[in-house]
Amino acid sequence: MDIVEPSPPDLNAPEANPARYFIFVILCLIVLGGMLWTGLRIPPPPPPPEIKADPVLARGYEVYMRQCVACHGLQGKGDGPRAMSTPVKPRNLVDEPWKYGEDEAAVTKIVREGGPNGVMPAFGTALNAAELKAVVKYVQRFRKRLDLQPVAVD
Ligand code: HEC
Repeated sequence: MDIVEPSPPDLNAPEANPARYFIFVILCLIVLGGMLWTGLRIPPPPPPPEIKADPVLARGYEVYMRQCVACHGLQGKGDGPRAMSTPVKPRNLVDEPWKYGEDEAAVTKIVREGGPNGVMPAFGTALNAAELKAVVKYVQRFRKRLDLQPVAVD
């Protein structure tokens, strides 16, 4: 009479290793979520020619579209989609006098260190020196473009 050996358990069977299937499902969700996220993000409009012509401004534009536009808005008017939910309104960099100063040193300081109330984030670690310089030059243009005279603020 033959001795029938019991077959070894199949480790790939779902009941043998439910954790593996759980991980698989999670990975699928992450990939799907990532695809949706990138797909749903509205691509920024191409930079206007005068921005494109200057490599520093072009870089500043790219940084602004990645890091700042959600709050400060496409035109810098403080009306980006995230502006609706921030406890302090992002500054309108076009029509309002700048609270923290408009020269390069002052703007660099607020972008690097963030605002005192913590709503304007600190970008000192997210941006390297060249990106910081570029985005500062780019946002400074919001005001210069309209040729507004700086107004005293209290
Ligand atoms: C989460 C929203 C948010 C993001 C993202 C953000 N800001 Fe701001 N920003 C603010 C808020 C809110 C203030 C106003 C802070 C205050 O009044 O104390 C501000 C203030 C500023 C100011 C000071 C304006 C003034 O009146 O002196 C500058 C300059 C500025 N932001 C530039 C930037 C740049 C450049 C980026 C991207 C690198 C950026 N911000 C990203 C919310 C944001």
